[in-house]
Amino acid sequence: MIQINGKRLIDDIDRLSGIGLGEEGKRTRTAATDADKAGRDAVCTWMREAGMQITIDRVGNIFGVWDCAPEDHVDTAPLMLGSHIDTVINAGKYDGCLGVLAGIEVVRTMQENGITPDRPIVVAAFTNEEGVRYAPDMLGSLVFAGGMSADEALAVRGIDNTVLGEELARIGYAGKPCDLLTPCAFIELHIEQGPILYRENIRIGAVEDLQGIAWYEITVTGHQNHAGTTPTHMRCDAGLAAAKINIFLRKHCEMAGSRTVATVGTCSFEPNAVNVIPGKAIFTVDLRNPDEACLQAEEQALTDYLKELEQTDQVRITARRVSRFEPVVFDQGIVEKIESAARSRGLSCRRMTSGAGQDAQNLATICPTAMIFVPSVGGISHDPEEYTRDQDIINGANILLDIAVDITTRR
Ligand code: GLV
Ligand code: MN
Ligand code: MN
Repeated sequence: MIQINGKRLIDDIDRLSGIGLGEEGKRTRTAATDADKAGRDAVCTWMREAGMQITIDRVGNIFGVWDCAPEDHVDTAPLMLGSHIDTVINAGKYDGCLGVLAGIEVVRTMQENGITPDRPIVVAAFTNEEGVRYAPDMLGSLVFAGGMSADEALAVRGIDNTVLGEELARIGYAGKPCDLLTPCAFIELHIEQGPILYRENIRIGAVEDLQGIAWYEITVTGHQNHAGTTPTHMRCDAGLAAAKINIFLRKHCEMAGSRTVATVGTCSFEPNAVNVIPGKAIFTVDLRNPDEACLQAEEQALTDYLKELEQTDQVRITARRVSRFEPVVFDQGIVEKIESAARSRGLSCRRMTSGAGQDAQNLATICPTAMIFVPSVGGISHDPEEYTRDQDIINGANILLDIAVDITTRR
């Protein structure tokens, strides 16, 4: 049984994780920043060293193409592996990076073992998966899958008022219209980012579906006024309304049988002063549920509550939906291949749902797709404490290798 080079992969993860360390050693490589450029440059170098041709599309998606027989592969759909290398703010080192770097490692391993795939293998690093700087999240893969036009994506304005297209041009990653064929399959290796595999002491997750996601930016407008002189009954406090919305969401999540999760992850007040009642509160809501009908019902409940609050608290509320992805079911055939590869390697495996958004959910709309998960110690992610044991990284990359060999040498 061939094996990936574990040390080389772990070294790559460590090297990439050293890029984008800012103040106090916090790792932040949000999309199309200077730190993201530095990470992209490193990944492109490693892809070239592995004999891959680099293609950058209009929204900055990086595709490293290994084609061992281009003349035989005209019109042959490639196999695509990959994920993303942009991060959240103060991030861990595995989220996304694992899928990209393991993809490169799979290519190297196949080359070193003299395996000649019957089709090109493409390793993708998609732009702005996290969506922290630009909404929607999974933007690069969404454009690649045809769910959003490149023009629309390039015009998106970020939280820092930058325009994605301008930032990609500035960092040298605004490429050309993509001429890749639709992949025959897409496989994404990722850390679980949740507690299930770790808690159950299972080595491999065969991800069979993924929950739906809705993001909102909500603006509550009340009346700015004096914190000391304004009697409570005369206040129109935008900050208080924002807090009530957060509590409303939590109560919904806690209802018996609910599988909804909701997060208010950003919040700003205006004028944001200790002795002034906030005249405005602007905050985000991240709402998720594995069932589309349930997610729609949660969105409706939120909309109804906002209307109610406008009356009871005498504030004005606008809600802008900035991202929406329906739940996705992955390809059964690939899920079974993951289970069987895990069995062959003597690794415990269970089927599971991804709680996180993933590039794979966009790829699933155009080709057979599935994901491999490996355990996150303590279920921690989107945090610098995010950690996956080296052996689990190696196991996951070996399963990715097995599937890639299986798909590209079936003859
Ligand atoms: C991406 O990590 C997401 O699930 O928001
Ligand atoms: Mn990710
Ligand atoms: Mn993430």
